[in-house]
Amino acid sequence: MRYEKKRSASRRTVIKGLGAGLGLAAAASFPAPFVRAQSAPVKVGILLPYSGTYAKLGDAITNAMMLNIAENGDTLGGRPVEYIKLDSEAAPPKATENTNKLILSDKVDFLVGPVHSGVAMGMAKIAREEGVITIVPNAGADQITGPLCAPNVFRTSFTNWQPSFPMGKVLLDKGLKNVALCYWNYGAGKQSAQGFIDGFVPNGGTIVKEIGVPFPEVEFQAALTEIAAANPDAVYVFFAGGGAVKFVKDYAAAGLKDSIPLYGSGFLTEGVTQAQGAAAEGIQTTLHYADTLDNPENKAFRAAYKEKFGAEADVYAVQGYDTGTLMRIGMDAVGGDMEAKNDLIAAMDQADFASPRGPFKLSAAHNPVQNFYLREVKNGVNEVISVAYEGLADPAKGCTMG
Ligand code: PHB
Repeated sequence: MRYEKKRSASRRTVIKGLGAGLGLAAAASFPAPFVRAQSAPVKVGILLPYSGTYAKLGDAITNAMMLNIAENGDTLGGRPVEYIKLDSEAAPPKATENTNKLILSDKVDFLVGPVHSGVAMGMAKIAREEGVITIVPNAGADQITGPLCAPNVFRTSFTNWQPSFPMGKVLLDKGLKNVALCYWNYGAGKQSAQGFIDGFVPNGGTIVKEIGVPFPEVEFQAALTEIAAANPDAVYVFFAGGGAVKFVKDYAAAGLKDSIPLYGSGFLTEGVTQAQGAAAEGIQTTLHYADTLDNPENKAFRAAYKEKFGAEADVYAVQGYDTGTLMRIGMDAVGGDMEAKNDLIAAMDQADFASPRGPFKLSAAHNPVQNFYLREVKNGVNEVISVAYEGLADPAKGCTMG
């Protein structure tokens, strides 16, 4: 069953409750500091990986978010912006300490992060308790916009379930009925596999093998041997960043590319096709973005990104860019007044804009309702083939926001 977006009355009640806990009434009765606060920088805390297998993802998100804000005079709601960056190292055990530093010591106004689903679980718990406005620009942990959903927590990326669900039908339409799954064995990989299963098994597909590889291990020989032995019609995988480079190259080097077609959620070929080289050519994936999407926002964004950073934009950059847009929508609505938190949150909740990925709006659980594209790598570019699922919302099981 799809989660229907509930509007206005009940939502505002919840937000009002949140505001009361933050002492908004008290702040409003002190006009002098209030005025000073309006010209002080807005503090944006960023918790993203800048080392390890997901380092490039963190860079792309950060670059594009800052590009967006720079394009708007380096301000949010008329106020200058101060960035406080922390390397998450994509390490869940460090999530609590890092989040506490940004929220409690640095006292950030917005918290942006993370990339890794395990880090997101630790971060979201604190963000919910503290009420700081949080935007998740990648991590897909289904729980963040499921049982852990909260009025102050938003996501500009996806749930792990979302990009994988449409692929089940794509493979069945190609006559591929027996599929092996292979993924990094943590939240993102497991939930991605479940999304694929949900779109595949009820429609007649069979999972013949499921192989988990510990994150962030990139030793894939044992998995490749198991895949060859299972001899499925196709393989569906979740790997990203440095791990995706290695997996795609190893898959081709093992001689499997031509005998067992490789599919995946689109992260498999995002930001990494140059490094993957010929091994990536022809790989089809599903994702909420493709390099060649023919809309004016995508063209302008890709050109600006390339000019500023000398690199091609990817889905991570798009998510970072849209994080900038979402903050701006909220801050413009309140003229930069962070104390007007109810109205700021309400404006973000109602965001509806043209993203480089296509139309962007949020579900009641604050997760994007968006198109998912079937793409294919041609000459190192993720080209759009078709819309695999238009306007797909995550089921948001367990989200009771209002
Ligand atoms: C995640 O851990 O949620 C994750 C990481 C990298 C991706 C996608 C999802 O590319």
